[in-house]
Amino acid sequence: MEQWIDKIKEALSLEELETLRVSIFGKKGELAKAFADMKHADPAEKPKIAKELNRFKQSLLKAYEDKKTELERAALQKRLEAEAIDVSLYSPRERGGALHPVMHTMDRIIEYFTDLNFAVETGPLVEDEFHNFEALNLPDYHPARDMQDTFYFKDGKLLRTHTSPVQIRTMMHQKPPIRMISPGAVFRRDFDLTHTPQFHQVEGLMVDEKGKVSFANLKWILEDFLHTMFGDVEIRFRPSFFPFTEPSAEVDISCIFCSGEGCRVCSHTGWLEVLGCGMVDPNVFKAVGYENVSGYAFGLGVERFAMLIHRVPDLRSLFEGDLRLLEQFR
Ligand code: PHE
Repeated sequence: MEQWIDKIKEALSLEELETLRVSIFGKKGELAKAFADMKHADPAEKPKIAKELNRFKQSLLKAYEDKKTELERAALQKRLEAEAIDVSLYSPRERGGALHPVMHTMDRIIEYFTDLNFAVETGPLVEDEFHNFEALNLPDYHPARDMQDTFYFKDGKLLRTHTSPVQIRTMMHQKPPIRMISPGAVFRRDFDLTHTPQFHQVEGLMVDEKGKVSFANLKWILEDFLHTMFGDVEIRFRPSFFPFTEPSAEVDISCIFCSGEGCRVCSHTGWLEVLGCGMVDPNVFKAVGYENVSGYAFGLGVERFAMLIHRVPDLRSLFEGDLRLLEQFR
């Protein structure tokens, strides 16, 4: 019988101990057998044997309990070691988000003008012909109204092709003086290396009493703005045409890729066109009911600015959502 105590002490696992428990303490186990065997003993000896057996059972139980505690403690220790977390281990950095380069460029543009006290105005993306065209002196027969250029809805509404309708809405709701910019998404039926069907514009408008706002003011602010955005570049104003401004100009900067030497990006002209501008056409003021005022307006494409600032050759790559590209702008 002594050997059972040794067996318990030598058990290597809880499973082994459990097997031993059944074979010792179980209904048909060793102890049960030993007690059953007492019936063959001399009746006079029985109390003594029973006492012995009970004492032995107690020491078996104690050996069993001790072993069980020991094995359980060891198992717990093993688990703790296996599941331990080394808080000092290196872990790769989480990928953080960042502003899209177009939005970042837009923010920089907005910041320049809000620093000069321009108000930021917004308007609907779905516009009507009046605000998007008519009030801007773009008559029915104007090619910009063509289905080729504009996304129309069945009811005659359209996706705004520029943010100029916001200027119209603002002037119709406010009295001059006006000093505002209208940043936002615009839509045109266009898709190639430098055009996407949706892009972003920031347009500006300054209106005050007649004579107070001049082309010289416009020229100064745009030159200062372009130097802020592109640094030390040459700037030139070229006469141009827009239905809503008269006179009108397009503004070029010396090519930031070749410093005006001539390269593929500037089509070997040395210049990059970046802005449209002019003095607000009297017909626009008539449409919104303004009298005795003068004003200037300008408009630019944010994607074009972003492409030039970050030297992105294909506009479409900015909208593919490729994280590798976006992560470069963090
Ligand atoms: N609205 C013009 C466009 O979308 C830009 C512009 C605005 C030009 C104001 C001149 C003056 O192309």
